[in-house]
Amino acid sequence: MPVIALPTGRVRDACLDIIEGSGMPAKKLRNAGRNLVVDDGDYRYLIGKPSDIPTLVSQGLADLALVGNDVTEESGVELAELIDTGRGRCFMAIAGPPAAAERFTGHASTLMGLRVASKYGRLARRTFESWGAHVKVLHLNGSVELAPALGLVDCIFDIVQTGSTLRANGLVVLKRTAEVSLRLVANPGALQLRWEFLRDAVGAVRSFVNGG
Ligand code: PRP
Repeated sequence: MPVIALPTGRVRDACLDIIEGSGMPAKKLRNAGRNLVVDDGDYRYLIGKPSDIPTLVSQGLADLALVGNDVTEESGVELAELIDTGRGRCFMAIAGPPAAAERFTGHASTLMGLRVASKYGRLARRTFESWGAHVKVLHLNGSVELAPALGLVDCIFDIVQTGSTLRANGLVVLKRTAEVSLRLVANPGALQLRWEFLRDAVGAVRSFVNGG
């Protein structure tokens, strides 16, 4: 039986739409309540926190997963990316109060020593390093918009979907840095050893995202 890990939270509904649209059973998933393991038809689904999905796959608990590339890149875990579904689109950005825009002139020197809050510490560091800027990254687990609003940091590095959380906290996008969407990923070992069980699911997702 193929085992597919799916994230809770913001992208849950987009994942369920992909599962359903691909013809895989989704009824029990939609009514899973607090169940974290859902067996439906020929499939088993594992429901996990987004940041735990790469571990579930790399440890072999799940064969496949739907997860954002923000999460996989932050995890640093080696996974095989099979399909960019194009669903659940968001973007990574540096955001802050409008006055912070003057630091983003295009010169690394103006960014030196910037204090940045993020739940994506690894990606934040890598992004600023790619510009040659050394910054101080403060790791928070969520609600990062609070930090600049209270003067704790100069800006945040975060995922933006509708932009409403930024607006509600008086913040603006200072620089859009990367595009994010839901990816179908796999455990590389499972692809080799269990392909006969996974082929139909992978084919179904590919056919769904290609429009039929
Ligand atoms: C993400 C992100 C922002 C918000 C952006 O948080 O960290 O806070 O969503 O979405 P928006 O642009 O539509 O307002 P998430 O909902 O994943 O929750 P968290 O803060 O608990 O991590």
